[in-house]
Amino acid sequence: PSGSDRDADGVIRIGGVSATALAERFGTPLYVLDEDDVRAHARRTLAAFRAAAAAHGVQARVYYAGKAFLSTEVVRWVADEGLAVDVCSGGELAVALRAGADPAHLGFHGNNKSVTELENAVDVGIGSIVIDSIVELDRLAAIAERRGVEQSVLIRVNSGVHAETHDFLATAHEDQKFGFTLQDAPAVADRVRAASGLQLVGLHCHIGSQIFGTAGFQESAARLVEVHAAIGDLPVLNLGGGFGIAYTSVDDPTPIDELAAGIIDAVAAECARRGIPVPNLAFEPGRAIVGQAGVTLYRVGTTKSVELGEGAVRLYVSVDGGMSDNARPALYGAQFSARIASRASGDEPALVRVVGKHCESGDIVVDHEYLPADVSPGDLLAVPATGAYCFSLASNYNYVPRPPVVAVRGGEARIIVRGETIDDLLSRDAGIPTKGTV
Ligand code: LLP
Repeated sequence: PSGSDRDADGVIRIGGVSATALAERFGTPLYVLDEDDVRAHARRTLAAFRAAAAAHGVQARVYYAGKAFLSTEVVRWVADEGLAVDVCSGGELAVALRAGADPAHLGFHGNNKSVTELENAVDVGIGSIVIDSIVELDRLAAIAERRGVEQSVLIRVNSGVHAETHDFLATAHEDQKFGFTLQDAPAVADRVRAASGLQLVGLHCHIGSQIFGTAGFQESAARLVEVHAAIGDLPVLNLGGGFGIAYTSVDDPTPIDELAAGIIDAVAAECARRGIPVPNLAFEPGRAIVGQAGVTLYRVGTTKSVELGEGAVRLYVSVDGGMSDNARPALYGAQFSARIASRASGDEPALVRVVGKHCESGDIVVDHEYLPADVSPGDLLAVPATGAYCFSLASNYNYVPRPPVVAVRGGEARIIVRGETIDDLLSRDAGIPTKGTV
């Protein structure tokens, strides 16, 4: 939801529910997730990749990358829309299983999965595990052999393509922690094939996140196909996620069907050049499924003006959350937008910086935005596009409890993740004497 849908009183509605009603019932800050929007993005994304793959006579599977936002409800929504789920820790795996996901439709990633995590994944019958290192390869082979099973695996490869995004979000250039080089991949494949407990199903690559163009994906796909051809006889090629979304009006991501066709056509063209059949394809979007379906509601607590010189003024608008519920501006310099959610205002636009309540000057929610100059304490602010990597990156910095997540659909709202209380946080403090101790 863009947060631009308002009722007659000027109150923003999300999934048919008014922002003021949500704030009254559930408090602020509040993560609001529009179920229909998540489902629509899931459906559209799956349809786009399936159609692009079908044009070349192959299949495409879409894994929802759970790291973007994971709860049992969301797993059920995306599974219901036909998506598989990608997890990258034992905790994420537990959520997916608790949601009732079919283990065969789960993929498991990560550069340092523990022995326990690997054992557990093998034991529940996980669909595939992406092998990230030789140490892990040998570890997983031993686990599978001991259990007498054959675990399907993919090999994570760095295509060497440096995606044009924030450095922390780019993952496939060479000097970083994930995966194997293109040069090493064939030898790794031999080693997997020599392991009786492992079944090699394909290569995997992920070049980064919040990427707008298709060129980086196409270049990476072409390089992967070269290695895929050299290894021979692999049924799947997984090209990861990373499809960007619009956070502000200046963002202009490639539409998903264009992106899907662009990537898959590039794979097919490279396969044709090398005279090999097009493999089945897999993708792992996270942000593109949930990002725009989320809105965070905050209550304005204080405001102040700062003179910037030459008559310019910046209005600081402090809200009741901040970097603990949205770390992205502090971590990546990420940009968001904001609007007043609880009323319409015809006042002149003023340059505003929306800041949180944490004890750091980098605690910024929206770095620059124009809001009606009469924005005041008590107003509700809506910050759209917070569905991905906000809840999942949330912290308890300054002992601030993490907000609840509410799902809205057809005019109804319900809690899908309950908020924390200060007692929840205190319950972990082992220094507090309990009854029976002195
Ligand atoms: N597959 C793999 C192997 C990944 O590492 C990731 C994201 C994805 C898929 C999903 O990427 P997406 O489609 O959501 O871009 N915290 C950062 C993003 C980190 C992405 C980590 N890996 C942020 O807030 O921008």
